[in-house]
Amino acid sequence: MSLELHLSGKTAIITGGSAGIGLATAKALYSESVNVVVAARNQEKLEQAVIDIQSLPNTNAKIIGISADLTKAEDVEKVVSTTLEQFGKIDILINNAGSAKAGSFLELSDEAFLDAWNLKLLGYIRLVRAVVPHLKNQRDGRIVNIIGGAGRTPRPNFLPGGTTNAALLNFTRGISKELAQDNIRINAISPGLTDTERAKTLAEQNAQSLGISVEEYKAQAVKAIPLGKIVKPEEIAALALFLVSDLASSITGAEIQVDGGSTPGV
Ligand SMILES: NC(=O)c1ccc[n+]([C@@H]2O[C@H](COP(=O)([O-])OP(=O)(O)OC[C@H]3O[C@@H](n4cnc5c(N)ncnc54)[C@H](OP(=O)(O)O)[C@@H]3O)[C@@H](O)[C@H]2O)c1
Repeated sequence: MSLELHLSGKTAIITGGSAGIGLATAKALYSESVNVVVAARNQEKLEQAVIDIQSLPNTNAKIIGISADLTKAEDVEKVVSTTLEQFGKIDILINNAGSAKAGSFLELSDEAFLDAWNLKLLGYIRLVRAVVPHLKNQRDGRIVNIIGGAGRTPRPNFLPGGTTNAALLNFTRGISKELAQDNIRINAISPGLTDTERAKTLAEQNAQSLGISVEEYKAQAVKAIPLGKIVKPEEIAALALFLVSDLASSITGAEIQVDGGSTPGV
């Protein structure tokens, strides 16, 4: 049996595709000849990501970057309408843009929670709502929500992120049965500590709230991972490729944790 993904010619939207897990996933999809739309705010970073992706061995796929702030409903619409103008269809959505502040609960304001919920929870929900009518028309769609282990295993100094992720797990599972009627699959990947810019920022915030050095925090974090290593963004990308391929055609409403064995559970 060969693991052919058969994704060539499909079109994918990747939110937060200019860095970290999103960029790795955009590169992986492009390398499978998928037309790729990356959305993020910072124009310069976006342009650099497009250059990096285009420099991969040519696959006849196309890539565009769309500057969008996914906390804004109108920008979500812009991403979807520009994708349809450029490529005429959408097959795959990778919901990935997220950012939540870490810190001690009593020091976090309402804004820390509202910002996290608005970007990641509502941002993911809005994108699903915006793409589903198009996926329904073609009776085929593949959605992956990049969530995170704190949804299932909350931590006291990461409650804006944890509450966002718990709600997104509920949403992913809750909507999966309805979407299945139109052959649209929606799954979640929950990364553990993954080697990205965001992980560095979180390490700084966590270290500060715990009153230890960043190096101490990192050493403790790695020690708590049974496999003893931080996840690489490419590992999340590889699983996303599998989940959006026909190899996973019977998988929907699932969450897969990629965390070095940090959170075993039944
Ligand atoms: N890294 C980890 O350890 C880890 C663990 C668990 C879960 N996750 C989840 O994985 C996802 C990706 O994380 P990452 O570590 O790859 O993050 P990252 O390296 O910080 O990249 C985040 C991406 O999202 C974009 N973004 C941020 N705010 C945005 C906004 N308002 N509108 C549009 N785009 C926005 C960023 O570009 P701009 O700033 O230019 O907009 C960037 O492209 C997140 O949902 C995160 O919660 C990560």
